[in-house]
Amino acid sequence: MKKVKVVILLGAPGSGKGTQAKILNQENANWLQISTGDLFRKEIASQSALGQELAQTLAAGQLVPDEKTNQVFESQVKQLLSSRPQTEALLLDGYPRTAPQVQALLAFCEREAQLEKPEAVEMEVDSELLVERLSGRLISKSGKIYHKIYNPPQREGVCDVDGSALIQRSDDQPTVIRERYKIYASQRDGIFRALEAANCRVQKIDGEGKPETVTMALKRAIASGGA
Ligand code: AP5
Repeated sequence: MKKVKVVILLGAPGSGKGTQAKILNQENANWLQISTGDLFRKEIASQSALGQELAQTLAAGQLVPDEKTNQVFESQVKQLLSSRPQTEALLLDGYPRTAPQVQALLAFCEREAQLEKPEAVEMEVDSELLVERLSGRLISKSGKIYHKIYNPPQREGVCDVDGSALIQRSDDQPTVIRERYKIYASQRDGIFRALEAANCRVQKIDGEGKPETVTMALKRAIASGGA
């Protein structure tokens, strides 16, 4: 049986992880995007007790505790793999984002025999550009990502696909963006060290070009890893 490829999309908030995962997911029916941020936002929208707890954490730009994040991630992957046995690749968008999460992911991939050892691709983007990207980001009810300048909808404020009113994420405020970036910067080296210690393949690509240019670079990186 061919194993499922596990590709970690690494990068700061606003580096384009979600944009690229959605493009690759659309182009390849058997590649699945797993976004822990989207999973948490869905939980918040459901207004469950857990959702109310998460809402405060996300709005402040803080990380959800590792144990809870690992649980949510693993249960989502198990569910997807059993309902979509034809899956060829998992695109991890926003997970892992601490060294303990890397360890949990490595252990999970060992336990789940159909999963390959993870590999990672980091999208590098200058920090000034990240702020510009995040402060202009708009999202639809179904999670489609726009940008006021770089990727505007056809009708201002309305999603081209589902017709919903576009909103700004509560964590895309300048002070929260700074906090999220600070946390990312403090965790990044630990994540790299944990991946390298486990001999996971880690590549870097330029994330500053147009989305389609970044997609090409990302596809090349994934293909060179043996997809
Ligand atoms: P999450 O939703 O994962 O947010 P993030 O990592 O901060 O990343 P973003 O979604 O902000 O950015 P992105 O890289 O996906 O960029 P995008 O493609 O949207 O997490 C949110 C929160 O959930 C966290 O703060 C934390 O609280 C919690 N959480 C999630 N995972 C967790 C974990 N593992 N552990 C603990 N807590 C966790 O692009 C941004 C904008 O730029 C868009 O407007 C887009 O249109 C534009 N853009 C993208 N690419 C380009 C390009 N090439 N050129 C021009 N514009 C572009």
